[in-house]
Amino acid sequence: MSELTREDIEGLGSPLARIVEVHETLASTQERARELARAGTPHGTLVVSEVQTGGRGRLGRSWGSPPGGLWMSLVLRPDFDASRAARVTQTAAVAVAKALWEIGVEARIKWPNDLLIGGAGGPKVCGILAESSAGSGSVLHRAESGELQRRLDYVVLGVGLNANLDPAVLQVRDRAVTTLRSELGQDANLLEVLRLILTNLDVELSRMEDFEAILEDWRALNCTLGERVRVQRFGTSLEGIALDLTPEGALVLQTVDGPVELFEGEIEHLRQ
Ligand code: BTN
Repeated sequence: MSELTREDIEGLGSPLARIVEVHETLASTQERARELARAGTPHGTLVVSEVQTGGRGRLGRSWGSPPGGLWMSLVLRPDFDASRAARVTQTAAVAVAKALWEIGVEARIKWPNDLLIGGAGGPKVCGILAESSAGSGSVLHRAESGELQRRLDYVVLGVGLNANLDPAVLQVRDRAVTTLRSELGQDANLLEVLRLILTNLDVELSRMEDFEAILEDWRALNCTLGERVRVQRFGTSLEGIALDLTPEGALVLQTVDGPVELFEGEIEHLRQ
C-alpha cells in the first residue's frame, strides 16, 4: 500500500492538489493526467501512483517506476500564450531542485531539467517531463497588442523522483542514478517531500511571467553552463561549450562553427 493517501495529500491544502488521485498501479500517471485534462479537469489536479508499469521519460524513453519512488503528474492550466509553454520546463526544474535542497539534497540542474547530485556527470535523482497542449480554434484570443494568440489549454507536468528505494532496483544501465534514500542515508518522508515540491512549484509557476528571474535561479542551480557537452541533433553529433540560456530558456552552445541554440534534446557532459 502506498505511503501517500489521497486524504493526506488533500490535507496539504495546496492549490496544485485540489483534485487528487492516488493509485497503487497505473501504466503512467502522465497518461492518466492527460486523460483527465482532456475531460476538462481543473488546474491543480494531481495524479500519483505507487508503481507505474509504463512510465515514460523524455524523448520517448521508458522510466522505471518501482515502489518507493514519487511518481506524479500534475494538470496545470497556466494563463498564458502557447508560445510560452516551454517555460514550464525550466520553471519546474527550479522548483523541484529548491524542494530537494530544503530536505538537504543538493540537486543540480542539467539542461533542460534533469536533477543530478554532485554536478555534471553526477547520478540522476529526478526527471521532469512537461507536455503541453494548445487549444483548438475556440481558444484563440486577442492580446492587448491586438495580435491573435493561441491560449495554452493545459500542461501535464510529470515528476519522477527516485525516493525511498535502492538505485539497483531501478535497473538503469546506461547512466548513473541515485535515490533520496542513498543521498540521505535514510528514507524521506514522502508527504513532506511532496508538500515541498507543490509549495515550490506554486511559487515558481506564479512568477513565470518574470521568466528572467526564474532563469537566474536556474543558472544558480545548474551544472551545465561552462561545461563541454555533446548533443545528438538531426542524426549528427554536435559538440561545444554550453555558454548560456536565451531569454526563452534555449541552450546556447558555442561550437567551432559558431553559436547554436538548442530547444530540446539530451546533452552529454564531456570531460574538459
Ligand atoms: C526524464 O527524465 O526523462 C523524465 C522522466 C519523467 C518521469 C515521470 S514519473 C511520473 C510521470 N509519469 C510518467 O510516465 N513519466 C513521468
